Amino acid sequence: MKVVDASLPESIRQAVDVLRGGGVVAFPTETVYGLGADATNEKAVCRVFEAKKRPTFDPLIVHVASVEQAHSLWQGVPPAAESLARRFWPGPLTIVLPKAASVLDLVTAGLPTVAVRMPRHDVALTLIKALGRPIAAPSANVFGHTSPTSAAHVMEDLGEAVDLILDGGPCSVGLESTVLKIERGTGFLLRPGAVSADELRSILPVEDAPGKAPAAPLESPGQMESHYAPWTRFVLLPKKFKEFTGEFEEMRKEWEAMKGLPPRVGLLSFGRSGEELNLESAQNLSVSGDLVEAATNLFQAMRKLDKMHLDFILAEPVPEKGIGEAIMDRLRRASGGHIAGKGTLC
Ligand code: TXA
Ligand code: MG
Repeated sequence: MKVVDASLPESIRQAVDVLRGGGVVAFPTETVYGLGADATNEKAVCRVFEAKKRPTFDPLIVHVASVEQAHSLWQGVPPAAESLARRFWPGPLTIVLPKAASVLDLVTAGLPTVAVRMPRHDVALTLIKALGRPIAAPSANVFGHTSPTSAAHVMEDLGEAVDLILDGGPCSVGLESTVLKIERGTGFLLRPGAVSADELRSILPVEDAPGKAPAAPLESPGQMESHYAPWTRFVLLPKKFKEFTGEFEEMRKEWEAMKGLPPRVGLLSFGRSGEELNLESAQNLSVSGDLVEAATNLFQAMRKLDKMHLDFILAEPVPEKGIGEAIMDRLRRASGGHIAGKGTLC
């Protein structure tokens, strides 16, 4: 594995060579780093699944550098998809539509649809253009773990399993793209992201994805409850930490009774906070309460706390408006649905 400076033309040439040879390259996008393979090369795509330890039932997003390239992957393009692409591409929106026959089944995990996105990042776009083919790329993390927003995160997770990492600095958005499936002119939100449901509604009617009920088969494996999670036990707070101090004391006592030692606790906070007693570390996503800044910092803060050998991490909720909806989605998934309170830690 080699890490190279993505701003050098020589680095892009190297990356193209690796991709042409069937290798895998991690590259920056505006959302998170992707682990890319030539989408038309089955063996190369196979290596992506292996490197991430990703089950092959979870389909990949195909990245393109133009709307025309997206058309070649889809079978017929409804007017709503055209309008969405014109309005939001390049950008953090992935569009799911019936696939063209040429798209590999391995890429779509056997589904009749394919997810396509044009990233808003010079390195990603230059790389796809230079290769002259679409690039299949999931987020460059071990399956189920927190997504990477820097080259260092990719190295930590995947190390030698990647042939080359294009280091383009930290990602500006910091959260994975919005995933929208279009069926009969209606959009189904499979994953919230930086493009909000309300923004999408300016173009087409949007509904929550079916499959939210626990027993229903998942429409998109990214809807799985436990996902985007740190290795450390992660618990969502029902309210701000400063309003939770009484319950926190109870949790600490409960832990100490169980383990014989007080717990080492980390906090993921948002906005102005009160006194943070009995905490090992607190990471504030945005002191000024800016949700866009919080999204950018989220995964990096989660990874920082994850390295501190804590017993658990508590996360404050954020307002569910705009990108706050996507942040709360990731916090809920990282916690596997666990809300802090009595008995959470048993
Ligand atoms: O921002 C992003 O989307 C990043 C960057 C690298 O582009 N990529 C990313 O990929 O987050 P990944 O594989 O970690 O997440 C893709 C999500 C998964 O939840 C997957 O199940 C869903 O998209 N997906 C892919 N193809 C699909 C399809 N045909 N139908 C439904 N869901 C699909
Ligand atoms: Mg992912």
